[in-house]
Amino acid sequence: MCGLVGVIGDDNLRDEIFLGLHKLEYRGYDSAGIGYIDGGICTIKCVGGVDKLQSITHAINSKVCIAHTRWATHGGPSVINCHPHVSAGKSVCIVHNGIIENCDYLKNKYNINCVSDTDTEIVATLIEIKYLRTKDKLQSINEVINELKGSFALAILFDGDNSIYFARNISPLLIGFGKDKMYLCSDVLGMPNASKYIDLPNLSYGYITLSDYKVYHNGSIANCNIVDVGIDYTSASLGDYPHYMLKEIYEIPKVLKDTISYYVKNTKLVNRIKECVHRINKVVLIACGTSYHACLMGEKFFNEMGYLAYSCIASEFVYDSIPIDKNTLCILVSQSGETADTISALAKCKKAHCKTLCITNVVSSTIAKNCKIVMPIKCGPEIAVASTKAYNAQVLAMYVLQYIFKNKKLSTLHTHINKLIKLLDVSVIEKQSIKYIKHILSAKNIIMIGKNADYVSALEASLKFKEISYISSTALPCGELKHGTLALVDEDTLVIVFDTISKLRDKTSNIISQIKSRGGKILVISNKENNAANYMIALPNIKERFLPLVSVIPMQLISYKTCVACGYNPDKPRNLAKSVTVE
Ligand code: AGP
Ligand code: GLU
Repeated sequence: MCGLVGVIGDDNLRDEIFLGLHKLEYRGYDSAGIGYIDGGICTIKCVGGVDKLQSITHAINSKVCIAHTRWATHGGPSVINCHPHVSAGKSVCIVHNGIIENCDYLKNKYNINCVSDTDTEIVATLIEIKYLRTKDKLQSINEVINELKGSFALAILFDGDNSIYFARNISPLLIGFGKDKMYLCSDVLGMPNASKYIDLPNLSYGYITLSDYKVYHNGSIANCNIVDVGIDYTSASLGDYPHYMLKEIYEIPKVLKDTISYYVKNTKLVNRIKECVHRINKVVLIACGTSYHACLMGEKFFNEMGYLAYSCIASEFVYDSIPIDKNTLCILVSQSGETADTISALAKCKKAHCKTLCITNVVSSTIAKNCKIVMPIKCGPEIAVASTKAYNAQVLAMYVLQYIFKNKKLSTLHTHINKLIKLLDVSVIEKQSIKYIKHILSAKNIIMIGKNADYVSALEASLKFKEISYISSTALPCGELKHGTLALVDEDTLVIVFDTISKLRDKTSNIISQIKSRGGKILVISNKENNAANYMIALPNIKERFLPLVSVIPMQLISYKTCVACGYNPDKPRNLAKSVTVE
């Protein structure tokens, strides 16, 4: 959600800052702006895309520049609310990711009138007020952050100073080291020319110059590790694909292969997970959105093994009274590792002394750093807001856990996955899926159903479909249809049926007849022919128990194709952000 980038250098700041801003676009935003020093603090802002901002930014005659893509939390998207924000006396300029929860209290306390509706502007003026008194920039920043409640990554310019100052709490912030430039960024992807970086500790503050940096925590120097960027930027570029979402769906076979290979090789991690097996009596799986659906799949696996297992939506878990204690294994699932709701849920798990394990695509993320055991999924950067390959890999991680808990050899799972990959041709599924876009677009109601694991696939399919096609759809277990939603079914209704579990096939067929007798059209997604279906998408002929790894792929593709047919951008759906860093 939103992005922040700062650059210090002698030349090419415009190119560098826009390179970073473009790389951060995937996170989702509604307005963008830059700030720099050219005979005083200057800002350029606009509502809309980074391209628009670039077209109105002709030159940056400055050694320092900070920039921001905003995802509004306080005050609508407007030029006035867009960052950077400049202090009342025009000596301090800031960009901010996060939320200042006590902004109204601070405005009253210091009697500050703000021009914008944001929670950010007050911070700029507060730093200025403190600096006028202390004449010490770092001390002023430290004093201010001690008064702030909420989450923040801040990049700060002081008029007449070619350094970029910073502060962070909860929202991620990194220092990047380039050949002849220094960077500050909320995401390692936003500084492609940095070869090394520091992941700044929580509640740290400090500054960067062209040749130096200092990081402090509560008045003392904080020790920080400098690590290699180690990102393959080719996997974060489009290649020959028109959109990241399509590229990422096509990457699913590779992602499954890389993920299982990682666990087969990493016996140390596997042994650490094994240690949990005898010490727990309950499993709670926690996440949001697509990652929550992976939890639902995992819950089934744990229940099959005889564990009490519950999946919880992170934002609900925080207020639920589900009993957890030191014998509970809490599994937090998050592609980004930065989802605020899941971070809050993790805090609750830790307070209750639960064992914490996360499944994440970003091992340097806040969630990974705060969990006892980190299970990576090997997806490479996932850029499209709609999560695809990460879901398939998260579900695979659930199989890995199942094998470990059952003390089964991961090499056997590896063999199964290799066989699956040989039979999984995404282009074959794509060709079948395209045929049905016209039926989807002409349907008045779209309902997705399934039983057991197929219901989980229906839930994930429905979320994917809504988030990028903006067409409403509902997902429910087959058996629930007749308890209300069947009232929607008529000849303009399309029901998408996930049908991959042979022992439940008869029951699913009954539901199909009930729908057909009310005129509804049926699209079946299955590994077996279904004569009752109006339309059919065949899944690869893989072992039935591994079908949950692939059964959502047709709907990932259909969602993508529908979105493109409607003329929308599948990589950046409206109103949504890639990593939701606010509660
Ligand atoms: C997925 O398509 C969504 N964009 C969203 O539901 C996402 O899965 C959710 O916000 C959780 O994100 P996380 O996995 O990074 O925690
Ligand atoms: N809360 C700030 C605002 O609404 C920052 C939002 C963001 O993180 O982009 O302006």
